[in-house]
Amino acid sequence: MEKLRIAFLGSGSMGGAILQGLLDAGYPKELLSATTKSDASAIAWRQQGVSALATESSPDANALLAGDADLIVLGVKPKQIVEVLQEISGEIGKNAVIISLAAGIELETMAAVVANPNLIRTMPNTPALVGKAVTGIAPAASASQDAIDATVSLFEAVGTAIVVPEEKINALSAISGSGPAWIYYFIEQWEQIALEQGFSQEDAKRLVRGTFDGAIDLLAQSDKEPVELRKNVTSPGGTTERIIATFDEHDLKGIFAKGLAAAVARAQELAGK
Ligand SMILES: NC(=O)c1ccc[n+]([C@@H]2O[C@H](COP(=O)([O-])OP(=O)(O)OC[C@H]3O[C@@H](n4cnc5c(N)ncnc54)[C@H](OP(=O)(O)O)[C@@H]3O)[C@@H](O)[C@H]2O)c1
Repeated sequence: MEKLRIAFLGSGSMGGAILQGLLDAGYPKELLSATTKSDASAIAWRQQGVSALATESSPDANALLAGDADLIVLGVKPKQIVEVLQEISGEIGKNAVIISLAAGIELETMAAVVANPNLIRTMPNTPALVGKAVTGIAPAASASQDAIDATVSLFEAVGTAIVVPEEKINALSAISGSGPAWIYYFIEQWEQIALEQGFSQEDAKRLVRGTFDGAIDLLAQSDKEPVELRKNVTSPGGTTERIIATFDEHDLKGIFAKGLAAAVARAQELAGK
């Protein structure tokens, strides 16, 4: 990735995961900056060599760091996006790329506040922390190809990225943005039923996380689709078949679809639709 100056305005769970992913990947620290609300969070970044300012002690922190950046990553909560854009609108360089991580905030809403054409809406996920984020990128029609390429490179430094039209981003958010929560929730429930069968906490963890890890590695290393690998552990008339039949009877896929629809509806609410 071409070495650009990147400012993270808001660097908590998500912005912070990308920033940390860049640091861990060896991105030059002197090109990275971050804002936070609290001094404690800013100090933690400074301890890693990132120039960081907190709004509680530097009210102009966002404007100060945005003015200097090639890429401005908005990592504040969705309801703060407009306010932060208003704070920085007079400071942004004309070729700067403004990249929002916020769920539910539309490009149109951002464009109403800043004149800059390079507006990009994204949806990453927290495995950025381990270099395995999956990020959806929806550029404004006015964004330059250079701006899109720079955004793709940023997210490829911490995982993989795909460019999608904005109308797909709410569904993508539910699938991959929230995806780690789906997975952790399954693991929580799965370990809980192991505990209820009398396994110790330690054994329940080993049984479930070990199986999860092994199954995902097998899928990654195999040229087979999940359905085929599943059939390999499902003898006709056997016990696994009963598990899958029970999931089907209770319409597991329907439950997934309802979860996705609820997330998309919430994203529309956040967008004021
Ligand atoms: N979490 C996820 O998995 C995920 C996934 C995809 C997208 N997102 C999106 O990422 C965004 C951030 O979510 P999050 O979960 O990372 O929230 P978070 O952990 O609460 O992080 C918010 C960050 O913003 C800082 N902050 C608060 N007010 C600020 C201000 N006025 N100026 C500058 N910084 C300020 C906070 O500082 P302190 O550290 O001092 O509190 C913190 O660093 C949201 O828009 C969300 O939709 C999140």
